Amino acid sequence: MEKVVTLGEFIIEKQSDFHGSTGEFSSLLSAIRLASKIVNQQVNKAGLMQHILGSAGGQNIQGEEQQKLDVFANDQFIKALIGRKVICGIASEENDEYIPINNDGRYIIAMDPLDGSSNIDVNVSIGTIFSIYNRITPVGHQVRAEDFLQKGSKQVAAGYVIYGSSTMLVYTTGNGVHGFTYDPGIGVYFLSHPDMKFPDAGKMYSMNEGNVNKCSAGVKQYVDYCKHIDSATKRPYTARYIGSLVADFHRNLIKGGIYLYPATTDAPQGKLRLLYECNPLAFIAEQAGGKASDGHRNIMEIEPTSLHQRVPYFVGPKSMVDKLEDFIKQE
Ligand code: AHG
Ligand code: MN
Ligand code: MN
Repeated sequence: MEKVVTLGEFIIEKQSDFHGSTGEFSSLLSAIRLASKIVNQQVNKAGLMQHILGSAGGQNIQGEEQQKLDVFANDQFIKALIGRKVICGIASEENDEYIPINNDGRYIIAMDPLDGSSNIDVNVSIGTIFSIYNRITPVGHQVRAEDFLQKGSKQVAAGYVIYGSSTMLVYTTGNGVHGFTYDPGIGVYFLSHPDMKFPDAGKMYSMNEGNVNKCSAGVKQYVDYCKHIDSATKRPYTARYIGSLVADFHRNLIKGGIYLYPATTDAPQGKLRLLYECNPLAFIAEQAGGKASDGHRNIMEIEPTSLHQRVPYFVGPKSMVDKLEDFIKQE
């Protein structure tokens, strides 16, 4: 019979893979696992909360103040992380400033607690993204901005949760990408996707193409290339865009496709955030045989200058991102 492995067992088994691990990383990941289960439960009730039990911002049946799901998710992740002594600071999309926690903790985390918020009300997949670093300032002191403003290449772990037709947690510590599917009946994540890799030849592209006329010539030409008919390279590619980065990335990782969120005339720096959207998915992409770029440089080589910095973003199988960069070079 095939062996069944839970996320908990897997983390313990792989603990030695994790840089000098003493069980601290297991503790960190179990906080993320716990919060994701609570958020999963709430996500699955979102329609009830909104249409049956009262709208967000109102009161629920117990007379408690209801929160929007992204604030709820933020609170749940922060609460779970504060409970573990290993984290010294948190940066979140939902907080203007970073939050110092336990001065003796060795890891910092940057997160997008609820990605794809425009899809909550319409029953479409959403997610959580996280990125983990060792601190730079000495243990025992309060964290400072420099602890958070590290290049993506310094990440020690990264992952995402997708709340989709089933809920999955996917993460890397730099030894491949592993995916776990949640069984809500018993509250356990099981290893379902060991050592995930992008298929070599991708055949999909994902972009909010409504913006294409606001993009640079190279991006426009690449999108034309995706649509061009050429049976040898399996073009035209299939267009798929969900509008939740996690869900678009996850589909592209499994099926083979490139995700594009370029700079536009309205958003010259792009829309997506370097620290808690682009870098973690870049780390996962590289570990899965892919690549992430701002069109010119490897995303993970960008020196961050602010917590909520935005960046143009292209991520997918290496060959697809290389091709896109060729078009941008010729602009
Ligand atoms: P968030 O919900 O965390 O603010 O992120 C939204 C992001 C990302 O998930 C998605 O890919 C992108 O915004 C969609 O943007 P457009 O609506 O401009 O396509
Ligand atoms: Mn997001
Ligand atoms: Mn978000």
